[in-house]
Amino acid sequence: MSTFRKIRILYINHTGQVSGAERVLIDTLRVLDRKHYEPIVMCPLQGNLVEEIFATGAEWLPIPSIRARFSWRPDRVLRSLASILSAVWILRKQIRALGPDLIHANSVRAGLVASLAATGTRTPVIWHVHDTLPQHPLSTALRMFVLIARNTQLIAVSRQTARCFVGHFPLAAKAHTIHNGVDLSRFTAERSERRTYRDELGIAQEEFLVCAVGQICARKGLLELLDAFRQVHSQAPRMHLAIVGRVVFRHEEDYLQALHEAAKSWAIEDRVHFCGERRNVSAVLHGSDLLVLSSRDEPFGLVLIEAMACGTPVLATRVGGIPEIVVDAENGWLVEPGNTPALAAKLLELSRCGSALRQTVEQAQRATCPKFSLEQYKTKLAALYTELCNQRDRGSPQEIKPALVRSPNH
Ligand code: GLC
Repeated sequence: MSTFRKIRILYINHTGQVSGAERVLIDTLRVLDRKHYEPIVMCPLQGNLVEEIFATGAEWLPIPSIRARFSWRPDRVLRSLASILSAVWILRKQIRALGPDLIHANSVRAGLVASLAATGTRTPVIWHVHDTLPQHPLSTALRMFVLIARNTQLIAVSRQTARCFVGHFPLAAKAHTIHNGVDLSRFTAERSERRTYRDELGIAQEEFLVCAVGQICARKGLLELLDAFRQVHSQAPRMHLAIVGRVVFRHEEDYLQALHEAAKSWAIEDRVHFCGERRNVSAVLHGSDLLVLSSRDEPFGLVLIEAMACGTPVLATRVGGIPEIVVDAENGWLVEPGNTPALAAKLLELSRCGSALRQTVEQAQRATCPKFSLEQYKTKLAALYTELCNQRDRGSPQEIKPALVRSPNH
């Protein structure tokens, strides 16, 4: 009798906190075809990720947090090594016990641990790169590691993130760009919620509400946005700014404090609204007239697609993967990162021109959103999974045959 064996994928996440990369992981688990795949996720217990994993119906196993840092400080090097080695130890045991067909590590740190733990097992390992690899000698060591690790491949969330990882190394064949996908059914242009959020903030319909949505951290350039707002607030007395999001990693708490202090010292407090994290992001986007993503570094920028799908115009910085999504004056606007006068001028201009805003929104919805749907992401990911499993099986004909192939023994 022939039965069907599913592809068992072990997902590794280095933290239990949910930020952008984890949202992609959760969506991956949600759309993964359970007839063909059996996902098991390993991540630390601390944080809100575990409950989200359970909600997708995937299995979960604990792994300690992987706290590796790009630093030469002896104490940090030791801490990073200890953290990596303890995670490798636990993961190696699980690889032996579970015999996954594939390991999908959801960050560079998790990837390093996974590739080390899978050494000698022939299990393919994917490093899903959601971050820009910093300029650091250790980055070079990581590239060399990926080059020699035969079972290791990369997914980058944008071409720019892939280029940055590859650098001058002959790694291009191992780096697959798969743009993130957004569940467009959760972010629709039906703007019935527009009033809810504005009413809550006490903002009238005719006032111009700018929002910034995402993790609160220096990389998101929120201080620059506040500065730009300061530069124009007296010329645009009906403009408001909502900062929506929370500090995810503790070391950024000072940054949030600095934002509050800047708003106070620049006397713009009454028009800057710190809203904390919102579960209903689409209500925020529907309620806003413009979404600004003023990042200094941004490998992708999920919120841009979410805003476009909600019919909210976007203004962003020309950095990282953003120009692969936003084309200036077509489906949104771009300014140079760190150029606060340019950002300020654009804010003022856009607050005064309703028709240009509407045109970009139409273009974004018609041409851009479909390119970044969850469906297209899922198709490309499944193709890569199949390719990697097939490669492995071609290399070892005597090993257990993979899913998607009927095996007489199971
Ligand atoms: C990280 C990146 C962000 C990206 C997200 C999902 O948080 O900083 O740009 O959108 O991962 O890939």
